[in-house]
Amino acid sequence: MSKRVAILISGGGSNMVTLVNSMTGDHPARPVLVISNVPDAGGLAKAEALGVPTAVVDHKAFGKDREAFEAELDRVLAAADPDIVCLAGFMRILTPEFTRKWEGKTLNIHPSLLPKYKGLHTHERAIEAGDTEHGCSVHEVTAELDGGPILGQAMIAIRPDDTAESLAARLLEWEHKLYPEVLRRFALGDKTPIRLGV
Ligand code: GAR
Repeated sequence: MSKRVAILISGGGSNMVTLVNSMTGDHPARPVLVISNVPDAGGLAKAEALGVPTAVVDHKAFGKDREAFEAELDRVLAAADPDIVCLAGFMRILTPEFTRKWEGKTLNIHPSLLPKYKGLHTHERAIEAGDTEHGCSVHEVTAELDGGPILGQAMIAIRPDDTAESLAARLLEWEHKLYPEVLRRFALGDKTPIRLGV
């Protein structure tokens, strides 16, 4: 039986597209739902074009009531009965109550070589620090922000003329290689960390 995968997005959804496209043939998983917290996220139309059901849980509709937002997110997710939840450019911080409920099933991609640069503006921070290497990480989601066990990393060199934009664009290509590889292994129960890149 294929594993059921739900993917959470907030934006363009390029990682979501590569995940969906990877789940064909003998892949052990299939996409069952894409959820966005942003009603006009570009990724929603891409998911629909790929034939994946979509849902919107708009965090703004809940104002400051994070609990109510997460209760609705949980309800929509649970209705899809996923075995695996992939955060793919999902830009809301989830509370420990939520992450605990889905722990062991939830993956996230983060654009830094964790544990470096948790949070936002990772490319700027790597350049400002004078780093010569940057990368992305796929990790299990736990209550600690960007802090769960690392399942894979891809490393790239930072060039002297890199801007945050050029670095982000180059790194995104590696995100698209790393995340599908990690997901395939994770769906088979293999948590051995993967290393890609330089
Ligand atoms: C990706 O670079 C992803 O690593 C990052 O957002 C981008 C989403 O792009 N995620 C985070 O920063 C999470 N903290 P996409 O919508 O094209 O996949």
